[in-house]
Amino acid sequence: MQDARTLNRRSLMHLLAATAAVGILYPSPATAQRGPLVTRPIPSSGEMLPVVGLGSWITFNVGDDEEARDACAAVMQAFFQAGGRMIDSSPMYGSAQEVIGYGLGKLGTPPALFATDKVWISSGARGPEQIEESRRLWGVPRFDLLQVHNLLSWQEHLKTLFAMKADGRLRYVGITTSEGRRHREFAQIMRGQPLDFVQVTYNILDREVEDRILPLARDRGMGVIVNRPFRQGALTRRMERHPLPPWAAEIQCSTWAQFLLKFIVSHPAVTCAIPATTNINHVRENMDAAHGPLPDEAMRRRMVAYVEDL
Ligand SMILES: NC(=O)c1ccc[n+]([C@@H]2O[C@H](COP(=O)([O-])OP(=O)(O)OC[C@H]3O[C@@H](n4cnc5c(N)ncnc54)[C@H](OP(=O)(O)O)[C@@H]3O)[C@@H](O)[C@H]2O)c1
Repeated sequence: MQDARTLNRRSLMHLLAATAAVGILYPSPATAQRGPLVTRPIPSSGEMLPVVGLGSWITFNVGDDEEARDACAAVMQAFFQAGGRMIDSSPMYGSAQEVIGYGLGKLGTPPALFATDKVWISSGARGPEQIEESRRLWGVPRFDLLQVHNLLSWQEHLKTLFAMKADGRLRYVGITTSEGRRHREFAQIMRGQPLDFVQVTYNILDREVEDRILPLARDRGMGVIVNRPFRQGALTRRMERHPLPPWAAEIQCSTWAQFLLKFIVSHPAVTCAIPATTNINHVRENMDAAHGPLPDEAMRRRMVAYVEDL
């Protein structure tokens, strides 16, 4: 968590401490072999973010179940230990925000956290109240990024979010959509508003954003967060019935999840993908995709052809 006004020496020291703690500055033999964590700059600030983050829809909506909450906290711990920063949530995700707050309380909020949430309410006037409730549930002093979820009442909510950013109560502003919904209007908002981030669905089989949204994000200097990298698990389940091509080793992929993530984050407009998981091994595997070489354009075409052929 960083305040826009103090994103200087103090946050740099925090980040250095966090990265050293997870072995990036002093890599273990395993890290040295995998290469450093791959990061991308947020276009509007230059701040670096790891190319893999963590989603929370459904996976963290576990209510009061103590065992399940502890399992989510363990996923968060493994995520931070692997150098992860961005956790994404929304008031739409049931108890997920509260469960994140539980995990952060248990772990002691890591300074590296990049807290990403959304505003999702039809009344613009009630946006600030909802944001404050989300902040309370997370237990953080402020969010790094707030996005208007699925463009709901976006005109009114963007006014609130830009005002918060101007006051130093928020660092970045964005909008989200998923599964190709309302891309025309989405692109219009991108053209008209000084957004820091957009969040869209992009994966090896859902590539509609390549035509208009991703190039526009590059032109406008906006970061891109990718949701539904695994089509909510359907893609990994489907791919796991088939062998990984032997040439996946050339880009250091030993699992389908890594293959799918490396495809996404190798697009030059993408800042990070945010796979969700309830499983510690999966979060480690996903974070491993943020190491080693990424596919070039020729390899990306080969990846698409292979998957489309299955
Ligand atoms: N409009 C919006 O703003 C919007 C819409 C959709 C999503 N989102 C955001 O994007 C995030 C990601 O999207 P999503 O939750 O729809 O789905 P997703 O990340 O595409 O898929 C999640 C599923 O993938 C499985 N998985 C994760 N890592 C795996 C691995 N290494 N190997 C095999 N399976 C793995 C998980 O199962 P396990 O638990 O077994 O690992 C989980 O069921 C959301 O959580 C949310 O934060 C935003």
